[in-house]
Amino acid sequence: MPIAERLSAIAESPTLKVGANAERMRRAGVDVKDLGAGEPDFNTPEHAKAAAVVAIGQNFTRYTAASGVLELREAVCGRWKTDYNIEIKPNEVSIAAGGKQALFNVALALYNPGDEVITHAPYWPTIVEQVKMVGAVPVVVRTSAEDGFAVHADAIIERITPKTKAIIINSPGNPTGALISEAELAKVADAAAKQGIWVVVDLCYEHLIYDKEPHNLPRVLFEKMRDRAVFCGSASKTYAMTGWRCGWTIGPPELIAACNTILSHATSNVSSITQKAALAALAGPQDDVVQMLNEYRKRRDNMHAWLTANPKITCVKPKGAFYLFPDFSALLSPDGIATTGQLAEVLLEKAHVALTPGEAFDAPGYARISYATSMETLRESANRILAFIETLPSGK
Ligand SMILES: Cc1ncc(COP(=O)(O)O)c(C=O)c1O
Repeated sequence: MPIAERLSAIAESPTLKVGANAERMRRAGVDVKDLGAGEPDFNTPEHAKAAAVVAIGQNFTRYTAASGVLELREAVCGRWKTDYNIEIKPNEVSIAAGGKQALFNVALALYNPGDEVITHAPYWPTIVEQVKMVGAVPVVVRTSAEDGFAVHADAIIERITPKTKAIIINSPGNPTGALISEAELAKVADAAAKQGIWVVVDLCYEHLIYDKEPHNLPRVLFEKMRDRAVFCGSASKTYAMTGWRCGWTIGPPELIAACNTILSHATSNVSSITQKAALAALAGPQDDVVQMLNEYRKRRDNMHAWLTANPKITCVKPKGAFYLFPDFSALLSPDGIATTGQLAEVLLEKAHVALTPGEAFDAPGYARISYATSMETLRESANRILAFIETLPSGK
């Protein structure tokens, strides 16, 4: 079956695969603790759900503009005014089926075959696979645990060539939870502006930042290069709305018009009902967001302490998102469990704990643990992981 060449180098989403394996065991009756999930375990806020019910009752069930309804785009502008003190207009916003589609529209709209697109690792695999899907070439800059996975501008700037079309920054980052500092982003922006390079920021976890660290990335880019600055956001993580599928691209009107053209031929509008729910979430009270953040913080702190009680596990304390990304390499050995890919398999099989191996994020030796799950599940999972490690010759 001759599948198109553009798919030849594309891997299935490894993060979704872990969930599928765990689900298979669960169906077979095994009590699996799933730390693979990249989604909140909280429910969508009541006022967002209620808005969807009203939308159905009012027969708001027809096509909308492919770009999303004006009120929703205005609500995104309203959030940016409140969150970043930045004025944007609805024609700078395009609504998509999640941050994933928002990013993919940007990839289709901006990157030509052969263009180079710089990003940082460990990365969320979709970022790199989307670049490849449109025939462009990902250029990956490594960050290190010793340095808190910080993204340094110099490392990015060093990799700029005449073929560089864009730089993609994910902050807070999946899987590391690291933030790019405003100062480093400003340096990236200076270099990009000088050379006509686009900067695309994935802000999907923008409201999941635990300490009061300045993170006004829109302000930094808008001051230096508004005509080539792009942001992708999402209702998924902030409002526990993963299944609704709602995200947005924010950028210069010509790029947004291109994204809307793509949408008009690909999926048309995001579900009209979802749009009403997202509108309520964005424009309504934000108390749920704060409550979820406070709960995630407690889980992060506990899980970090529980795991690092074993000195064989070292782990940077993440500043954002809802993942820990511990280093398990001290447990690996060529004649035992040789890779974190194998470690994840054995952990699932023997300890019934599902986590995502670092290989999925271009970071072998590490594994991603989602703490978007209950404290009880985290406690039990940590117990199982620690007990399992005791059974390894390298774990003693
Ligand atoms: C870094 C990052 N960006 C974007 C997304 C997109 O999420 P969604 O398409 O549900 O908005 C995800 C989801 O896991 C993510 O981890």
